[in-house]
Amino acid sequence: MDDLRAKYIEAIAAAGDEATIEEVRLAAVGKKGEISLKMRELGKMTPEERQVAGPALNALKDEINAALTAKKAALADAALEERLKAEWLDVTLPVRPQRQGSIHPISQVMEEVTAIFADMGFSVAEGPQIESDWYNFDALNIPGHHPARAEMDTFYTHRAEGDDRPPHVLRTHTSPVQIRHMEKNGAPCRIIAPGRVYRSDYDQTHTPMFHQIEGLAIDKDISMANLKWVLEQFAAAFFEVDEVEVRFRASHFPFTEPSAEIDFRCSWVDGQLKLGEGDDWLEAGGSGMVHPKVLQAAGIDPALWQGFAFGLGIDRLAMLKYGIPDLRAFFESDLRWLRHYGFASLDVPTLHAGLSR
Ligand code: PHE
Repeated sequence: MDDLRAKYIEAIAAAGDEATIEEVRLAAVGKKGEISLKMRELGKMTPEERQVAGPALNALKDEINAALTAKKAALADAALEERLKAEWLDVTLPVRPQRQGSIHPISQVMEEVTAIFADMGFSVAEGPQIESDWYNFDALNIPGHHPARAEMDTFYTHRAEGDDRPPHVLRTHTSPVQIRHMEKNGAPCRIIAPGRVYRSDYDQTHTPMFHQIEGLAIDKDISMANLKWVLEQFAAAFFEVDEVEVRFRASHFPFTEPSAEIDFRCSWVDGQLKLGEGDDWLEAGGSGMVHPKVLQAAGIDPALWQGFAFGLGIDRLAMLKYGIPDLRAFFESDLRWLRHYGFASLDVPTLHAGLSR
């Protein structure tokens, strides 16, 4: 018995890996192990012999098992120690340089939209964000009592004491650029005017500053049909699908006649927006044929010229294309948030990448 004990305790001590330990375990206390076989012989012994040999064998078995377990744990510890040594990281090393800045999603969408309309022959026009009420309202046939002119909806600047001229406004839409452009360049024209606009609004889908893109096409025989085609081409290109059905909903704007709300056919499945299919309609903006009074205000003869205008909300287009739930997030400038929503510009180098470095 002492020989057995010495033999296996030694073998366990000498074992250098898990496989060897397992071999020793099978040889000693496995089903056909030496100690197990000895225990089977207990039945053949006399009761006196058994009384001595039984407890001794059991104690030996326990001792061997305990030694096996201890050795296994020691081997595991050693293995972990090895790994820790091998996989050691110097956390004091300086971090690798990472690009921090990137083009803003709104700017990216403005560029995309501008490029699409450029392909259709539209050039870019601009106007001031602090606008006179003539360009923002009167020239666009918006009457004095129109709700858009209420202080509740519009930001007005202050005039000096005693100055009775109407105050300037933060433009409430990009439509004043229509007037400025026609006044300066006459007809015919095909322009888009992307830019910031301001209204006194703030909730999950409205911010006091947002972005629109104005479209204007004036010529001899431009019609609503041309408008529809242009919008269809735009929607398909922007949302990267073959075709998007455009629906006109009768509406009213003082500066267009007739006027139509623009809807794109879409589907919402599991919160996922798909353009060009399904039974839902996505409101994209306003449009219509430019009102004769507006042409007149801009110095263009409405007897000779006609055309369409439209205004699309850029922030919404960006939200929809990139699945952003809350418009306000645009203004938090949170890179983690932008990455979460997978803005390609954060991963793919753009024209602007590197400029900041
Ligand atoms: N200016 C309108 C708005 O901000 C949109 C629009 C533009 C409607 C051009 C018709 C023509 O709601």
